[in-house]
Amino acid sequence: MASRQKTAPNKSNTAEIQPAKGKLGVMIPGMGAVATTFVAGVEAIRKGLASPIGSLTQMGTIRLGKRTEGRSPLVKEFLPLASLPDLVFTGWDPFEDDMYTAARKAGVLERELLDKVKPFLTSIKPRPAVFDRNYVKKLDGHHVKKGKNKMELAEQVRADIREFRKSSGASRLITIWCGSTEIFLKPTAAHQSVKAFEKAMQSNDENVAPSMVYAYASLMEGVPFANGAPNLTVDLPVMHELSRKNEAPICGKDFKTGQTLMKTILAPGFKARLLGLNGWFSTNILGNRDGEVLDDPGSFKTKEESKLSVLEHILQPDLYPELYGKMSHVVRINYYPPRGDNKEGWDNIDIFGWLGYPMQIKVDFLCRDSILAAPIVLDLVLFLDLAKRTSELRGIGIQEWLSFYFKSPMTAPGLYPEHDLFIQLMKLKNTLRHLKGEELITHLGLEYYD
Ligand SMILES: NC(=O)c1ccc[n+]([C@@H]2O[C@H](COP(=O)([O-])OP(=O)(O)OC[C@H]3O[C@@H](n4cnc5c(N)ncnc54)[C@H](O)[C@@H]3O)[C@@H](O)[C@H]2O)c1
Repeated sequence: MASRQKTAPNKSNTAEIQPAKGKLGVMIPGMGAVATTFVAGVEAIRKGLASPIGSLTQMGTIRLGKRTEGRSPLVKEFLPLASLPDLVFTGWDPFEDDMYTAARKAGVLERELLDKVKPFLTSIKPRPAVFDRNYVKKLDGHHVKKGKNKMELAEQVRADIREFRKSSGASRLITIWCGSTEIFLKPTAAHQSVKAFEKAMQSNDENVAPSMVYAYASLMEGVPFANGAPNLTVDLPVMHELSRKNEAPICGKDFKTGQTLMKTILAPGFKARLLGLNGWFSTNILGNRDGEVLDDPGSFKTKEESKLSVLEHILQPDLYPELYGKMSHVVRINYYPPRGDNKEGWDNIDIFGWLGYPMQIKVDFLCRDSILAAPIVLDLVLFLDLAKRTSELRGIGIQEWLSFYFKSPMTAPGLYPEHDLFIQLMKLKNTLRHLKGEELITHLGLEYYD
């Protein structure tokens, strides 16, 4: 007979979490399709015009205790998260368009909806960006900061942050990179410590990309930073050091939407049933500005690395050489303007089963990239703010429990990332249970049969 006893939270194990008092300022480098879809969406939801579909913090529940207890509160009721009316926004972009104009150009949301939130969106104007065409070859914006070196530019971003803190009245701040994908860079000596990085900024070292300047400025101000693109940005020893020192949590990289989301849903299923994989060919056609930027081989290389790593980690060919040792994994992105933000992701998957007999699966995902990305931005903003207010999380640097949202999750050095969406979700929810002293859920379940 199943036990009906209630499990009680262990108060002595509960993390100290400060309340979410006052406004939360959201600062966004890169006010393009994703950023405007997120901000317009938040305002539409606040006005009761739409629902926050896709957001775990707004619609998700969390099971507590035994299956027989019937305790499944909403995530936002279980933890003290900032609420949507408390969010205020600013951003940076090398183009001068305010959020309404940028949203119209991005073409994700219909005009009818945008016009209902027009005054709010028009009021958010970009601050001049730290921008350099050498890192994003396909863009040519002129709304940019000037300074004699990268350290001076970082000082200007820090001044922007302080100004926003004051003018918005925000009690807490978060930065989330929604800017374009930069060219492929590898960590160098310049990224190994705060001292080396500051010297590199002063000498305008080419290894310091604009996204790193924002990250440095945020972390110096004690502001958490999430990275939605595949750039290194905060995935560097210097940023790990600053994050821990200044108690500003970090996470990244590359929002997990569209094709990679599908991959991390399907691949764990193949492995669970020990079905082999000969090959996975993925192609994308997209016509938005992101697609145009990724048409440059440098930016594509950064994206490709991020997209390719997923299967290796989920399928573990070293443990299953017969099933996954010879798979061919190819990813293509083609810029095709007529599609705009409505991407098409095609996958041809060659699997094999019992006695080696081959089979094929075709996935054709007609998706809307920014519609999938916007709830991720919202959840990351709210969870990073929670991390900053939580004794156990604020000083640890990388927030690996947020891997759920990323294509290339950041981990402690030497640790391989967890890509399986279902393990990632369990990790996230168990972290939330742990913070509140609730029993972790292992799904063992033998106790129901005592
Ligand atoms: N579902 C998705 O859309 C998705 C998924 C994963 C990752 N991403 C990544 O998120 C980022 C944003 O995607 P998007 O579709 O909104 O692209 P977008 O091209 O519409 O917007 C990016 C914006 O960043 C601006 N920008 C470029 N460099 C900048 C800088 N140094 N400082 C400030 N702003 C800068 C650009 O001018 C542009 O307005 C991209 O890197 C993309 O690869 C998007």
